[in-house]
Amino acid sequence: MKDDAKIIADLKQQIHELEQQLSDYQHLEKKLQWLATFPEQNPNMVIETDLLGRPTYMNPEARQRFPELWQKGSSHPLLKGLRPIVAAFVDTDQEFVGREVDMGDVVVEQKVCYTIEGDVYRLRIYAHDITARKRAEEAIQGLAKRIVQAQEEERHRISRELHDEAGQALTALKIALEIIQGDVPATEESLRQNLDEAIALTDSARDQIRMLARGLRPPALDTVGLNLTLEDFCQTFGRRTQLAIQYEGSSGLKLSGAVNICLYRVLQEALTNVAKHAQAEQVWVKLWQDETAVHLSIADDGLGFQKKGTAPLQSSGLGLLGMQERVELLNGRLELRTIPGEGTTVTANLPLRAAKGTL
Ligand SMILES: Nc1ncnc2c1ncn2[C@@H]1O[C@H](COP(=O)(O)OP(=O)(O)O)[C@@H](O)[C@H]1O
Ligand SMILES: [Mg+2]
Repeated sequence: MKDDAKIIADLKQQIHELEQQLSDYQHLEKKLQWLATFPEQNPNMVIETDLLGRPTYMNPEARQRFPELWQKGSSHPLLKGLRPIVAAFVDTDQEFVGREVDMGDVVVEQKVCYTIEGDVYRLRIYAHDITARKRAEEAIQGLAKRIVQAQEEERHRISRELHDEAGQALTALKIALEIIQGDVPATEESLRQNLDEAIALTDSARDQIRMLARGLRPPALDTVGLNLTLEDFCQTFGRRTQLAIQYEGSSGLKLSGAVNICLYRVLQEALTNVAKHAQAEQVWVKLWQDETAVHLSIADDGLGFQKKGTAPLQSSGLGLLGMQERVELLNGRLELRTIPGEGTTVTANLPLRAAKGTL
């Protein structure tokens, strides 16, 4: 009797435990179902593949956008280039790789992660279409390029007009004044003096116009080339600002017009910044080329400055940004190294196969 009661109590206990387990399982199953809805409802594409890049799962968005992915498998452009990513996962403790896949008419941004389920490794790819954004960026780039180009053309035109029209008019004026001077009798002392002053003024106006025209578009770039133009600019600038500028160049460079003018503008702005902000004594300018790129660095021993924000070239002025923009338009990179109290170095690096356009 007593045994029966114990058996029943034990059974009840077991049933209770089983019920408990069942409820735990039900709870887990619900949770799994809940989790499973995530990729299913994701408005972006979610794709899982094995380590060879063969799809094992696609969420509805991926199935709808790329229905052919199942058949094409790892040869589909969307899944190209996964092998080195797998290698990177194996060799390092990197957890994901971000990449852009350009399929011609469609550009897709992807985040590739790996997952482990039991002992099965898979790749999980989160992807979304960024074609519209890419096209907009390209359009902006194209526009920026055209603005720089238009600006250079305008400068070229104004420079030519200043030199040809205003310069020549002043030369004619000077000759006319000299003729008048020749006719003035020696007794007209004060008139002769006034004419002397007028002639001197005409000379200095002509010099200023020449300088302005040269700054707008250095004619030497087209004749003596980049190296001598930069050297000459350093000399003139140094004389004018009392800065000791040491120039180390490289002759025989064969660069496109666009690269030449870009490097000239970088030097112009960087030296102006040194004169304006650095309180430097010495400046080192260096132009050199290696197999793939041409480089121009401008280093000063001045005050340096605190870079604002996280973006390396975020600043209030437009000079640094303008330089960066020009350099990036030719697929180059502008580096800025500055240490408060020690000085600043600006380096423009332009690939030799930079933009073909000539400015
Ligand atoms: N060589 C330099 N030495 C010290 N400070 C500099 C130098 N170059 C740039 N700066 C600092 O960076 C700021 C941004 O420069 P920039 O974009 O050319 O604008 P702007 O020259 O019109 O002020 C300057 O105001 C200055 O504070
Ligand atoms: Mg500036």
